[in-house]
Amino acid sequence: MKLNDQHIFVTGGADGIGAAIVLDAVEQGARVSFCDVSVDKGNQYAQLLRKKGHKVLFHEADVGKFDSLKIAHDALVAEFGMVNGVVNNAGINLGADPVTLTDEEWEHFMGIDFKSVWHTAKLVLPAMREAHKGSIVSIASLHARMTFPKYFPYAGAKAGIIGLTHNLCLDEGPKGIRVNTVSPGYTLTPLLEEWFVKLPEKRTESMAVQPMGRMGKPSEIAKVVTFLLSDDASFVNGSDFLVDGGLHARFA
Ligand SMILES: NC(=O)c1ccc[n+]([C@@H]2O[C@H](COP(=O)([O-])OP(=O)(O)OC[C@H]3O[C@@H](n4cnc5c(N)ncnc54)[C@H](O)[C@@H]3O)[C@@H](O)[C@H]2O)c1
Repeated sequence: MKLNDQHIFVTGGADGIGAAIVLDAVEQGARVSFCDVSVDKGNQYAQLLRKKGHKVLFHEADVGKFDSLKIAHDALVAEFGMVNGVVNNAGINLGADPVTLTDEEWEHFMGIDFKSVWHTAKLVLPAMREAHKGSIVSIASLHARMTFPKYFPYAGAKAGIIGLTHNLCLDEGPKGIRVNTVSPGYTLTPLLEEWFVKLPEKRTESMAVQPMGRMGKPSEIAKVVTFLLSDDASFVNGSDFLVDGGLHARFA
């Protein structure tokens, strides 16, 4: 029970990797709150976990909008107390043509996949600084280091998260707050399934390069995230954990 007495807040916790993080965190003894734009799914998931005896709260929020995130954060803190650990998980895919991509589309995407990491920090850091303790974990991606064609500007947003994490880990480390990233490879979630539906040839191509002959499960990402949230990772700060079955080692 490595997260006993902790309040862990997860963004995008209704499905995919986020839902697996919510589950692993409650199983490790945490009080877990999560937000999502998918309200029905979020409410149903929270209810299901509460029925199993876990302490879980859901609040609707769009991480791309600071006001929405703040309303959720404040309501969840009022119920569960200060956030001891936050997981910036909510994210969407974008593969655009840089010529036709509009400013509005850029802002929308970057608001969710990049700026939200700053916005959650803005909300949780004051209490963490006062407590001189806290952990922030953001889900980046293997795309932060290597990417493939027609994925603009997804890799930029994910690389940005790692840079921002370096800034935060240096500034907040002396205040007892650790800031890290987890970079998944191919992980079987609704997001990946949608991509395979759009580009069916990618399913076979992606499988062919997997060093372990399979893709990852959301629970396999979650285990690394809850480790980073816990005191077991007490000297881990500013690190990026690749959880990709070894795909990053492949040259071609
Ligand atoms: N699945 C993969 O292969 C993979 C690989 C590398 C990185 N990632 C990253 O992992 C994270 C989770 O991805 P996933 O595959 O579980 O995605 P998913 O689409 O399966 O689940 C994402 C969840 O976030 C929610 N969400 C989306 N936009 C939101 C917003 N604006 N505000 C609040 N919630 C929002 C969705 O409703 C959903 O419940 C993302 O940051 C993604 O970029 C995924």
